[in-house]
Amino acid sequence: MPPSPASAPFPAARARRLRRTAALRDLVREHRLSASDLIWPLFLRDGTGIEEPVASMPGVVRRSVDRVVAAAEEAAALGIPAICLFPYTDAAVKTVGCEEAWNPENLTNRAIRAVKAAVPGLAVMTDIALDPYNALGHDGLVRDGIILNDETVEALVRMALVQAEAGADILGPSDMMDGRIGAIRAALEAAGHRDVVILSYAAKFASAFYGPFRDAVGASGALKGDKTTYQIDPANGEEALRMVARDLAEGADMVMVKPGLPYLDICARVKAAFGVPTFAYQVSGEYAMLMAAAGQGWIDGERAMLESLLAFRRAGCDGVLTYFAPRVARALRAG
Ligand code: PBG
Repeated sequence: MPPSPASAPFPAARARRLRRTAALRDLVREHRLSASDLIWPLFLRDGTGIEEPVASMPGVVRRSVDRVVAAAEEAAALGIPAICLFPYTDAAVKTVGCEEAWNPENLTNRAIRAVKAAVPGLAVMTDIALDPYNALGHDGLVRDGIILNDETVEALVRMALVQAEAGADILGPSDMMDGRIGAIRAALEAAGHRDVVILSYAAKFASAFYGPFRDAVGASGALKGDKTTYQIDPANGEEALRMVARDLAEGADMVMVKPGLPYLDICARVKAAFGVPTFAYQVSGEYAMLMAAAGQGWIDGERAMLESLLAFRRAGCDGVLTYFAPRVARALRAG
């Protein structure tokens, strides 16, 4: 970005001239939010006709596959280009070996097929990590309390291949194991899935803001300890940039920064340094905070939602994963 030239001295320059009317403000607005910038994360569960509220995320539900198809149709009608699927798995299905993760008939794979059959034009993104299937709640396989890297990568590759086979357009490895992007990319190429996109959760921090999500996918109870041996320390910006460089070198098509608002500096640095498609995840805790304050009447929820999302565009993000997606699309449509 070029530096702003010095302005004329007052009163030759009056900044308020361009703020005086809505028409003038429209004319000089630098960034805009559009429904086409959004990816809508959806929670899945077994059954039919079910939309079950997530207590810590007011307005968010877990949907059975038929209801996910309905949401996918809604997304397409609203001009939202992509959804992202996250399964809630019953404790009974979770194992220490996480085998359900690469079952071609698991909830995620069934949902991918159903959505692609009903709304083929909508991009379906998935999450690659073992936590929904892991009896120990971690994104990786655990032995003697240690999260195993290379064994986990092999499991993630299996998981990626069945999701690609089911028709996923975008794979989102969110696990933060080392070497997973290269391994998944090589396996996809070898299996003929040449056009499957990888949106790497490259700069994913060990954050307190994921709490409500872990409730939504049923991982909170299972998780022993924390994820600090694989997710990035919130103190480290240079490291986040190195992770983005690495994942791009291994074959990621797009990269993500996660969480969102507390990490806007990382978003701006990633976009400036690499110029690649850059996404942010406005995570569950960010959503919950805005909804809680709005629910108390302490902030104007609608305006705070739009302002928070516009901030990602200003920081250089091409798009945002947000639980607000359909509400934003409707608000933008209403003008
Ligand atoms: C786990 C995963 C998490 C989220 C997306 N994928 C949680 C975690 O890392 O513990 C969080 C999303 C959110 O909080 O909205 N693979």
